[in-house]
Amino acid sequence: MRETAIAAVQAWEALDSRGRPTVACAVTLRDRAEGRIVVPSGMSTGSHEAVELRDGDTRYGGQGVRRAVSNVMTVLGPAVVGLDAMDRSTVDAVLEQADGEPDLSALGANAVLAVSVAVTVAAANSNRTPLWRMLSTAGPPLLPLPMINILSGGAHAGRTIDIQDILAIPLGAGSFAEALEWAWSVRSQAERELRRRALPWYLVADEGGLAARLGSNERALALVSDSIAATGLRPGIDVAIGVDVAASQFHGPGGYRLACEGRALDAAGLIAEIVGWCDRYPIASVEDPLAEDDWTAWQLLHERLAGRCQVLGDDLFATQLDRLRRGVADSLANAVLIKPNQAGTITRAERVLREAQASGYATVVSARSGDTEDSWLADLAVGWRSGQIKVGSTTRAERTAKWNRLLEIESRSQGTAEYAGASMVAGRPREHR
Ligand code: PGA
Ligand code: ZN
Repeated sequence: MRETAIAAVQAWEALDSRGRPTVACAVTLRDRAEGRIVVPSGMSTGSHEAVELRDGDTRYGGQGVRRAVSNVMTVLGPAVVGLDAMDRSTVDAVLEQADGEPDLSALGANAVLAVSVAVTVAAANSNRTPLWRMLSTAGPPLLPLPMINILSGGAHAGRTIDIQDILAIPLGAGSFAEALEWAWSVRSQAERELRRRALPWYLVADEGGLAARLGSNERALALVSDSIAATGLRPGIDVAIGVDVAASQFHGPGGYRLACEGRALDAAGLIAEIVGWCDRYPIASVEDPLAEDDWTAWQLLHERLAGRCQVLGDDLFATQLDRLRRGVADSLANAVLIKPNQAGTITRAERVLREAQASGYATVVSARSGDTEDSWLADLAVGWRSGQIKVGSTTRAERTAKWNRLLEIESRSQGTAEYAGASMVAGRPREHR
């Protein structure tokens, strides 16, 4: 048996950054190398994601994951013991088969992902290779352009505004470190602006963004845009805005309800609203502008924004290959968010990313709103050459864990990993990339 064969798999219940239970897992190889990880969890989850298993009993308000933990210990672990950790696709195929459901709902996508990621990390540790280096099989490693959360609303911030996240995209920065520094400046300026308006500037949302009742979505966009300008950086050139509308969250039988403005819009109305935002503010990327199954409307919006802006599918694609393929065929978007826990295994997530890249889509590796102290996601972005990454704001340790890992890679890789800058943002005129 090879030294990199899986010798033992253990799991236990841990807490995510929102304080909800999640699955932690340690995989040990024959050579004693170990991979130990904690899986993330979303709040504004798409209905087409792989499905987490929750206990539904009285502990932790039904959110406990003891059944998922037990599934790792009694089914998934034994199924992969003896397999070579270096052969990730076989390990992940065995995990998928053990579950048997396409959405991994039998044993829980949280259980399956825990083993999949821990095996990957153990393999890198066994090789004494940084994870990003082990994963860079399809080209040289590439440091991603970050999208950094400034203001939050929706499910991440008590629905203070309807838009879930307004982010800074430091398009013009020359390095990852500079990008982070510029985003910090924008955030500090946004805090000052809130203080000036006697609004709370100390309340942070689930991903560390500022949360304030601004009364309208547009006012929030204006605040971030003004904050960019006030730092002396050029809006749209040095730093642009990213918007995660997360529209499925306010879509219902009556259409799209912008609760903070007391308005309801149909799809055509929301499209006009969003195109208007893009006309008035330096927006470079729009995520989930429409509900996850409103395909026709996506097509119309993409047509309107093509050549101007990145149109990014999160809940729309849910990191699922079949949904991405339909999106490419019907020209619904030009970029996809890659969340490993939406896919359920590292292999599945990578497959979606590779197919997206081959189809000319931009890819953005993303954390969840309930994340953990782990930093493996940063390595995925670098090794897979995603070109972009989104992990939240510049506060809260589960966010800075990923930023700090990227700072470390930039500093210690001694030029091995180039910085993507704006080169891989989709939908923008060439001279702006
Ligand atoms: P979630 O939010 O992790 O709560 O789904 C992140 C996002 O929508 O991008
Ligand atoms: Zn999203």
